Amino acid sequence: MAREVTHEERGPTVLDESDMGDDDLIYVCRCGLSDTQPLCDGSHNATADEEDGVVYKYANDDADGERREIDEIVYENE
Ligand code: FES
Repeated sequence: MAREVTHEERGPTVLDESDMGDDDLIYVCRCGLSDTQPLCDGSHNATADEEDGVVYKYANDDADGERREIDEIVYENE
């Protein structure tokens, strides 16, 4: 499984103690669907049933948006 998301930022975000959860850990979103980027907000739960070998697109990059299968993402340097 994979998914296509759109990122508009052009630089890094600095994280600090204020980004820590109650367990003193910082959870960084890697699924691309969090509404609180770059922090995880639990939106990754929507990806639990994605199938291996399929590429998905969520409407508006929102975990609650309609999910559809798309053609494979093509990377320029491959
Ligand atoms: S990893 Fe993306 S919301 Fe949790």
